[in-house]
Amino acid sequence: MTAKVSQADADTIKAAVNILRHGGLVAMPTETVYGLAANACNDTAVARIFEAKQRPAFNPLISHVSNRQMAEQLAIFSPLAQQLADRFWPGGLTLVLPKRPDCPVSDLVTAGLDTIAIRMPQHPVAQALIEQFGGPLAAPSANPSERLSPTTAQHVADQLGDKLELILDGGPCRSGIESTVVSLAGDQPALLRPGAIARDIIEAITGPLAKPGKTISSPGMMKRHYAPNARLRINADAPEPGEAWLAFGPTPHEAAANLSPTGDLVEAAANLFHMLRALDAHHSHIAIARIPRHGLGEAINDRLDRASV
Ligand code: TXA
Ligand code: MG
Repeated sequence: MTAKVSQADADTIKAAVNILRHGGLVAMPTETVYGLAANACNDTAVARIFEAKQRPAFNPLISHVSNRQMAEQLAIFSPLAQQLADRFWPGGLTLVLPKRPDCPVSDLVTAGLDTIAIRMPQHPVAQALIEQFGGPLAAPSANPSERLSPTTAQHVADQLGDKLELILDGGPCRSGIESTVVSLAGDQPALLRPGAIARDIIEAITGPLAKPGKTISSPGMMKRHYAPNARLRINADAPEPGEAWLAFGPTPHEAAANLSPTGDLVEAAANLFHMLRALDAHHSHIAIARIPRHGLGEAINDRLDRASV
């Protein structure tokens, strides 16, 4: 696959919406950096983002919305959250908020956390794309892991062109630096990532922003991620008595669930969080089959390693 770089107009935005509806990936311009977008509510589509970026771990992603109503279906807005959204949306501020219990976004987007990061971009192409798609888009910066964030359509084509179907060209990004990420999900408002909107402008509303600390979930702090209650035994070859079997690929054993009966890692990633959650609700001991370590297998194993300690 080689992505088409297309000047964003009514027709190409329509084509992009169509790709998103079918679970595909589209690069979209925002005023901060280009994003690699997929339907945030489709597990498989989101798994494809991680595959394309070759992220070694499932870092949580930002859900992009085009209006407040869409945002309020995903998260619980405190009065302070309302205030920040009034002031900075649309724009370069991402809010991390408590996820609503009925939030339709994939567990893979939130990495199993009970919080969700939301941003309403200002770029007219991003706005139009989300509005016409009609739901939230998960979008990390459209660069391979560890590489610079792209600020032109050509950067995306150079770095990820063979991994996605369409790159909407909306010109160079005005800001060129990622959004500022502020968490309102902890005891105190905290700055999780400095970015497009300067700290002091935000602090004028929030008061001093805390640093991400022990009580605040921040990008690298996976300990705060969803940890199952059940005992997980990973890299298992077979279930032992009393263990529910979470299989991968064809298995001779009776499986409580199978991450991918055909051994497909994108499918396994898409199923990982919701299957773990479902098994955790009914079993105290779960044995998980060995997952290959190539491709998305690295991120799946990383997540399982963390969940099994
Ligand atoms: O400007 C931007 O924010 C760009 C454009 C495309 O919108 N997006 C972007 O996404 O930079 P990404 O995935 O590269 O960075 C998302 C950041 C990461 O630092 C991630 O850890 C944090 O947001 N994040 C997302 N969800 C979170 C959550 N529930 N709790 C804490 N941090 C979260
Ligand atoms: Mg990034």
